[in-house]
Amino acid sequence: MTVTEDIIELEHKYVLQTYKRPDFVLESGEGVWLYDSDGREYLDGGSGIAVNALGYQNQAIIGALRQAADSLIHVSNLYHTAPQALLARDLCENSFADRVFFSNSGAEANEGALKFARKWARTQGHTDKTGIVAFTGSFHGRTMGALACTATEKYRKPFEPLIGDVSFAQFNDLDSARRAITDKTCAVIIEPVQGEGGVTPADPAFLTGLRQICDETGALLIFDEIQCGLGRTGTLWAYEGYHVTPDMMTLAKPLAGGLPIGAILLTQNVADALGPGDHGSTFAGGPLICTVARSVFRHVNTTVFLQQVKTHGDYLAAQLNDRVVVSPLIEQVRGKGLMWGLVSAPPAAEIMVEARKHGLIVLVAGPNVVRLLPPLTISTDEIDELVDRLVKTLEAVG
Ligand SMILES: Cc1ncc(COP(=O)(O)O)c(C=O)c1O
Repeated sequence: MTVTEDIIELEHKYVLQTYKRPDFVLESGEGVWLYDSDGREYLDGGSGIAVNALGYQNQAIIGALRQAADSLIHVSNLYHTAPQALLARDLCENSFADRVFFSNSGAEANEGALKFARKWARTQGHTDKTGIVAFTGSFHGRTMGALACTATEKYRKPFEPLIGDVSFAQFNDLDSARRAITDKTCAVIIEPVQGEGGVTPADPAFLTGLRQICDETGALLIFDEIQCGLGRTGTLWAYEGYHVTPDMMTLAKPLAGGLPIGAILLTQNVADALGPGDHGSTFAGGPLICTVARSVFRHVNTTVFLQQVKTHGDYLAAQLNDRVVVSPLIEQVRGKGLMWGLVSAPPAAEIMVEARKHGLIVLVAGPNVVRLLPPLTISTDEIDELVDRLVKTLEAVG
């Protein structure tokens, strides 16, 4: 038995089988490249799942990790530590927010945001203002509250009943949103660019309209930028591209360069409703994670870096339009920055599996969308290589 077969057998025997993993074992990475235990290379068009924004073996991340490991790894949230306070300042001073609450994952961040909205409404004297409005195509995570706001039936159905008082409006349909959002709604949660649901950007007029409806009905607007935030769309936050600001924003995936983190950014108005004991976490916002997150944030939050994401995103879009949309298997390309979805005629999973044979890792977003989320550091040569491999994949599937 080879080492690869050994590891796969152990995984099959001992790990709960909730993932269908391919038959290779990833061992190392460098830049946008991953290497398996049999020495095969893969161009990573998924960044984990939108996590490794700075690729693999990024020296800034490794340096921060080493430095943090030499001081404190964990002390709990009962005590002050410098990295948490400094990361919170970095995030607030570079966004709409006044305050931050740290969590350990995206779902947890959304869970917290929903709780904050409920408490905020109650503090205003509205005990019956408990409704939450989410949208078709949404994905907000797998915990019970986040799942209740996630539209996809196959994720929800086996676990019902989920938390109550969540209703769904049609994404990008203001009339539908207007019908769903009432004075009993405490929060509206939306991804400015939907990820898992098919890589669908919100229409600018839709987000502007949502802000207006929320203001009229007194509901909080929550942007879930867990996948589309932190430079992914070519601006630091996706909402900047829309000129609409939320009351809360949730972050996670790329924020600590591959270490688990989540964050809820909120305005002082919402923060005023919350006090000691209202929410908490044992691990969240620890000094090691926050030190690493600060290094990622410093790296991404420069004009030069964000401009490069825009330029390379435009380059990728042009390549996809010129060389990939011509394939009879691809019906449409949509996205923003370095976040793209290819609407495919055959099942997207078939393309994902074939791509691996061509040394390319892609993701899917629903049954018929192939999703590309390469590291934000990808070069134009590497984009050419990614598109070459994608074209070969489509020829093979076709
Ligand atoms: C938009 C969005 N929200 C929430 C989540 C959940 O994040 P996590 O898997 O870290 O709980 C995801 C994960 O894919 C996501 O894409």
